[in-house]
Amino acid sequence: KAPPPKYVIGFSQCTNGDAWRQAMLAGMKKELSFYPEVDFRLKDAKYNSALQEQQIRELLQEGIDLLIVSANETEPITPIVEEVYNRGIPVVILDRRTTSKLYTAFVGGNNVEVGHTAGNYVANLLGQRGQVLEVLGAPGSSPATDRHQGFAQALAAYPGLRLVAQVNSNWERPSVLARLPAMLRAHPEVDLIFAHNDRLALGAYQVCKQLGLDREVKIVGVDGLPGPRGGIELVQDGIIKATLLYSPGGEEAIRTAMRILRRTPFNKENILSTMVIDSTNVLTMKLQTEKLASQQQDIQRQQQLLHQQRATYASQQTVLYVLAAA
Ligand code: FRU
Repeated sequence: KAPPPKYVIGFSQCTNGDAWRQAMLAGMKKELSFYPEVDFRLKDAKYNSALQEQQIRELLQEGIDLLIVSANETEPITPIVEEVYNRGIPVVILDRRTTSKLYTAFVGGNNVEVGHTAGNYVANLLGQRGQVLEVLGAPGSSPATDRHQGFAQALAAYPGLRLVAQVNSNWERPSVLARLPAMLRAHPEVDLIFAHNDRLALGAYQVCKQLGLDREVKIVGVDGLPGPRGGIELVQDGIIKATLLYSPGGEEAIRTAMRILRRTPFNKENILSTMVIDSTNVLTMKLQTEKLASQQQDIQRQQQLLHQQRATYASQQTVLYVLAAA
């Protein structure tokens, strides 16, 4: 039997420094373990769009069969991704989009829907009355734009709800710690903060606490990760009221990439669904994710065993050949 063809997959990641991206990478590696013939190359752009463009050029030069990309900002990354696509190299957009239709497949959540679902949840939580502050993700990144759009749209349907203030961030907690205090002092009557991810939500909580507002202000985040300081734990500890699940999609991205490379049918748009995680279902979510994690560890152990057995078998074969030749 002919060995499977070798493929090089390049992954241009906007940042690799947080738990959500680590979960994405873990999912990718788990799925990649089924394709040992794949050479997987990750480049971390560290939130720098110029660096990301340069790294995609490097991947092109090194020679890749497929590009997976999570665009730091939509506009600056669009031309280089179009160039890759136009050279006939398949492109899988993962989570953060470009502005272009020139890509082979998309894997990720629908961020307009995430914002919209958050808006309706907030309306319900506040009894359709109150003042809301929004902490946005980094300007120019597609999830920030889309989450805001969906959220504002949903709130607009409730005349008693008002979006009174917005704070920009760079997706990381320190930016909230720096910018939110002044905004909250200017709007001390705020009832709820919607933060575009759970790291920002935790930062918002810490600011509220500092200002003595943590009892008055409710907080809703996005991501819903398991693990320490993840959204599930924040909900469980009562630090935030709710989080909107936003799956990293690492497994799905590799699965889609392999279908494309092996020329088997695939979907162009692979939308991962969202849901509200709050006090009513957080325990179930926690148990489910823990179970999943332990099953993944089992799979890893089985794979290690399989590799060991293969190695033992291969060396036994060699002994047999040597004996037969003697
Ligand atoms: C991780 C992250 C998540 C967020 C996503 C949006 O890097 O900031 O917290 O949901 O990126 O692309």
